[in-house]
Amino acid sequence: MIRPTWEELPSDVADAVQAQCGPVLKADSATAGIMPGVAARLDLEDGGTVFVKAITDGHEAAALHLRERWAGWNLPSEAPAPRMLWADTVAGWHVMVWQHVDGARHADLSPGSLDLPAVLDAMVLLEAVLTPCPSGATPVGSNVASLLVKARRLLGGPVGDLPDRGLYEVAIERLDLSDLRGDTLLHYDLSAGNLLVTDQQVSVVDWSFAARGARWLEAALFAPRLVEAGHRPGDVDELLSTLPAWRSAPRDAVTGMAAAWTLFRRYKARYGPQEVRRARARAAQAGRAWLTYQQTN
Ligand SMILES: Nc1ncnc2c1ncn2[C@@H]1O[C@H](COP(=O)(O)OP(=O)(O)O)[C@@H](O)[C@H]1O
Ligand SMILES: [Mg+2]
Repeated sequence: MIRPTWEELPSDVADAVQAQCGPVLKADSATAGIMPGVAARLDLEDGGTVFVKAITDGHEAAALHLRERWAGWNLPSEAPAPRMLWADTVAGWHVMVWQHVDGARHADLSPGSLDLPAVLDAMVLLEAVLTPCPSGATPVGSNVASLLVKARRLLGGPVGDLPDRGLYEVAIERLDLSDLRGDTLLHYDLSAGNLLVTDQQVSVVDWSFAARGARWLEAALFAPRLVEAGHRPGDVDELLSTLPAWRSAPRDAVTGMAAAWTLFRRYKARYGPQEVRRARARAAQAGRAWLTYQQTN
């Protein structure tokens, strides 16, 4: 994905950011992430660094930026996340400036990785400090609704178009959305690229999908990512069982979410932007393995 760069922002935006942070010497666009919009590290004249995100109002992803802005203002200081330093809408651009996590790399989620205990610790901390949920959060049902739209489109497609249709149909039918309600602020998108590691400390970035929901849901959504990173589904279950919230997860809801998560990715693998199709197909394959495990154990 080609992001717009810091240099392409209107001068009013650059001026507003520099009024907050001081002069910017250099900008480096993030190469990770699949969302459109400016996302860049700014090196400042005073030797500091910040991370800027910006998108035009009216862009289809603008709502996600505004949601991240909401999270930035509402995350408690104990959350394992950088602080948002400033945000505003300037010259038709929604702009956020975050602390930059210096010297970080993306978490390695593969089996045996030393990052795994740190990531699980960060998840325990997240749940503790994000319960009860700050007021004004988007209900997670609205995130899940967008998964289900795509899921139902595939399920309603021509017979033969979707191998294992039955597997998904049963799981989605049994998904009771009221099980997803809760009083925890969920990050909802704990991909390796959103988990930044420095000295085995984890900082969680990219709060665009932050939503209020059931405490176990974060782990349920993280599970297929662990499978994708090379873990056997049974081992994922065992790893997650160290999280107190996981034990309260209703089985039908976990299975239904596995199906919705997987079908959404299958849909994107088929109809999404060309450059993400392969990655989406890999994720869908992992999701299917996790779903099958849930249905047979
Ligand atoms: N505060 C930050 N400090 C350092 N790097 C960051 C920060 N926020 C994001 N990044 C880096 O930029 C990448 C893209 O940013 P992200 O907020 O995840 O955008 P996207 O919505 O495109 O996924 C992240 O994967 C991470 O590598
Ligand atoms: Mg991201």
